[in-house]
Amino acid sequence: MTTAVNPAELLAIATTIAREAGALVRRRRDEGVEVAASKSSPEDVVTFADRESEDLIRARLAQLRPHDGFLGEESEATGGTSGLTWVVDPIDGTVNYLYDIPAYAVSIAVVEGEPDPASWTALAGAVYNPVLDEMFSASRGGGAFLGDRPLRVSERSELSLALVGTGFGYSAEKRTRQAEVVEGLISQVRDIRRIGSAALDLCSLAAGRLDAYYESGLNPWDIAAGALIASEAGARITGFQGRPAGKELLLGAGPGVFDELERALVELGVVPR
Ligand code: IPD
Ligand code: CA
Ligand code: CA
Ligand code: CA
Repeated sequence: MTTAVNPAELLAIATTIAREAGALVRRRRDEGVEVAASKSSPEDVVTFADRESEDLIRARLAQLRPHDGFLGEESEATGGTSGLTWVVDPIDGTVNYLYDIPAYAVSIAVVEGEPDPASWTALAGAVYNPVLDEMFSASRGGGAFLGDRPLRVSERSELSLALVGTGFGYSAEKRTRQAEVVEGLISQVRDIRRIGSAALDLCSLAAGRLDAYYESGLNPWDIAAGALIASEAGARITGFQGRPAGKELLLGAGPGVFDELERALVELGVVPR
């Protein structure tokens, strides 16, 4: 790497831009949301606000960090020369956004190394819900925060009393499989939540609002900031059977329920073998 890295400075950039993009997204929501296009399926939409938010974030980062790479959901990835990449979801929870359900967020992280969750080191991340004005943030080794309040995962130790978050992909085939896993899991846990934003699921885990969270089919921008925030709050985060978290699976939980949930999910075939 050629540029000196100051995680506190990177975190300040992430939170400042997330707040600015969040305000824009919130304003656009009040003006009325328009779908710009469908993506992988008719249910998988992008709004003009998703694109506008990503454009704003990209432009701000280009001014402040011209040598870093960029990987966002809504535009072409670009490499940099610094060894750092900003991984951005301009609106995580677009379907909630469309329906005005107040569970969507701007997610901005900066990672070192290949912009791939299997190998990157996340340095700083911010997840901002502009409706609730909640700013979740973390830097590597510096802890996780909601505003200025430190976050800690729940100490729950029995799966049967755990509130578990999950999510569903956009393809019918994936959803059928995911529904089968939920069907098997529901009788083994306190209850299941489908919040509709992977970034907020991970922040909820960090804040003890969920005891655990798992999902398959996630993209790097869904998890870059949230996974750092959850792990800095004490969550164990992995993929399938010890592999790195990524598209195949992300499983996150407080240490007290992690093993029991992992066993249950493997048994239910969360990742078909
Ligand atoms: C989606 C949300 C959702 C998850 C989907 C993601 P988007 O992101 O995080 O909770 O279940 O897999 O694609 O499209 O709203 O940014
Ligand atoms: Ca999307
Ligand atoms: Ca997303
Ligand atoms: Ca998105």
